Amino acid sequence: MRFVIEAIDNITNARVATLETEHGRIHTPIFMPVGTLANIKGVHQHELANDINAEIILGNTYHLFLRPGVTTIEKAGGLHHFMNWNRAILTDSGGYQVYSLSKSRKITEEGVTFKNHINGDRHLLTPEVAIDLQRSIGADIIMAFDECIPYPCEYDYSSRAMRLTHHWLERCIKKKNSKPPLYGYQQYLFPIVQGGTYSDLRAQSARYITEKDCHGNAIGGLSVGEPAELMYEMTESVCNILPKSKPRYLMGVGTPANILECIALGVDMFDCVMPTRNARNGMLFTSQGIVNIKNKKWANDFSQIDENGVTVIDRQYSKAYLRHLFVANEMLGKQIASIHNLGFYLWLVRQARKQIIQGTFGKWKNQMVKKVSQRL
Ligand code: GUN
Repeated sequence: MRFVIEAIDNITNARVATLETEHGRIHTPIFMPVGTLANIKGVHQHELANDINAEIILGNTYHLFLRPGVTTIEKAGGLHHFMNWNRAILTDSGGYQVYSLSKSRKITEEGVTFKNHINGDRHLLTPEVAIDLQRSIGADIIMAFDECIPYPCEYDYSSRAMRLTHHWLERCIKKKNSKPPLYGYQQYLFPIVQGGTYSDLRAQSARYITEKDCHGNAIGGLSVGEPAELMYEMTESVCNILPKSKPRYLMGVGTPANILECIALGVDMFDCVMPTRNARNGMLFTSQGIVNIKNKKWANDFSQIDENGVTVIDRQYSKAYLRHLFVANEMLGKQIASIHNLGFYLWLVRQARKQIIQGTFGKWKNQMVKKVSQRL
């Protein structure tokens, strides 16, 4: 995987790079919209590519395994064909979703047995199964099978989960190397650093994962309820160990401010359900701050959704119109809000890129963090 660093900020650890996959070039720092079930909720592929310019999206092995099942995806020729998306895709391995969604689950050295959240059927997910499923799905970047622990979590359990994640990584690598990719293009496996909120475990995990010399590295187990400062502290200590020459992906993070702070720490890739999930509840992220579009104060405000109008949709509709759609519970309201929020997240990371290249990132980031965090 070619990962070419083009600029490094001289004050923070932020960097600008390009990442090449067979489904296109990804400009980092990047945000990856979450497309759990072979779709980004409420957003057409056409809008994703043309209005928002998403270069890579995320899919979830757990969900695709349950519905429609990987046999259907294989018959379609892989997820890119199935969902008509010819740009890059990353799939999460399923572990995290098992912990967050399934009812009863049991974790052993072998893997995780769980009852699925749809009809309660029992399944066993192992590192080998997670790799096989991701081979059938055919994403460009696939994730190692890990154990993500909650917050807070005691030291001994955190340590055990980290060691299990390391054992599972060995098995993922072995399985990945045992078969060629199914669809004729490379799939790149990213391992995941765990270790909870303990600096020594995080350092141990980061060193272990670095040694595996994979194409990129991920940081997991954060943004699970810990204070933001603790998340930054863990991210910083891990970024100081992970190799500079490879992409770093911080999983499941976060708010616009979290993303800017973590870009400053040296993270290149992000994903989060927040822009789409919150959009469906009427929360808009804008360059001026956070808007609750359902609020009565917008009822007769005919200004654009975002004064800076970063996506096409921002220039087409007013706050008053969007509020009306939400109050009347019209489907289009959720769609417009989702497109807007994703457009804003992608705009924000593109701006970060520009500022890093210009050498003005640090100051811009501090101003922007304040702006995007305020409620309007
Ligand atoms: N998504 C958010 N956090 C995590 C994590 O720790 N592991 C995995 N596999 N996915 C995640």
